Amino acid sequence: MAPRKLIAGNWKMNLLKAEGEALVRALGASLASEPKPACDVLVCPPFTLLGALAPLCGEAGLALGAQDCHAAPSGAFTGNVAAPMLADAGCAYVIVGHSERRSLHGEDNATVKAKAEAALAAGLVAIVCVGETEAERDSGKAEEIVVAQLLQSLPEGASAGSLVVAYEPVWAIGTGRTPTVAQVADMHAALRKALGGAVADAAAVRILYGGSVKPGNAAELLAVANVDGALVGGASLSHGDFWAICQSCG
Ligand code: 13P
Repeated sequence: MAPRKLIAGNWKMNLLKAEGEALVRALGASLASEPKPACDVLVCPPFTLLGALAPLCGEAGLALGAQDCHAAPSGAFTGNVAAPMLADAGCAYVIVGHSERRSLHGEDNATVKAKAEAALAAGLVAIVCVGETEAERDSGKAEEIVVAQLLQSLPEGASAGSLVVAYEPVWAIGTGRTPTVAQVADMHAALRKALGGAVADAAAVRILYGGSVKPGNAAELLAVANVDGALVGGASLSHGDFWAICQSCG
């Protein structure tokens, strides 16, 4: 049986406290008053909002996640945040290896793996992001490249309860462009197969698609085999758009 879908909002470096609180309250009101969507709903706000939003997310029935963590549990790392601190703030999830971290902060697969292992050690679910650049897609080797990225980024000892994979083609992030349904199906099948050799319960690991997911394309993308949810950037900042995407799960 396919895993229950997960719709995750990555707020990136957006929203101040009042805006974040209003968004969480609005999502909570929708979850309470409308037919429940067939998915779990997660929001990943900036670090500064985690403490304030944790109780509101609890009331709203939303899971809370962070957008990054350090690989060490504590120490002299000015400006960084450790995984146990995220758990302490009320997070259940943390995104690691987002393409913006890989490209803008020079994070390689070994760094992402170490961060994912720190997340698991802190009892968090690691959302491990992978995806090809446009040049890699054009080379015809996207699947090979993304599978290698995944295998090198996977934490040791992961299971469906501690790992989510997010396939986010770099060229689809924030561009309004998306791969075809066939390209998404092929990539997600390749990732599922690769997980089979690395994780005992690979069929139960959620593999999300991310990159320009909007209300207008969500139903089509979420219906693709092996797409177990979405990682949503820009559209997650709007209650109407994010809720419409959640409802696209059926
Ligand atoms: P957009 O939905 O804005 O394309 O961002 C996707 C993303 O990077 C989510 O992590």
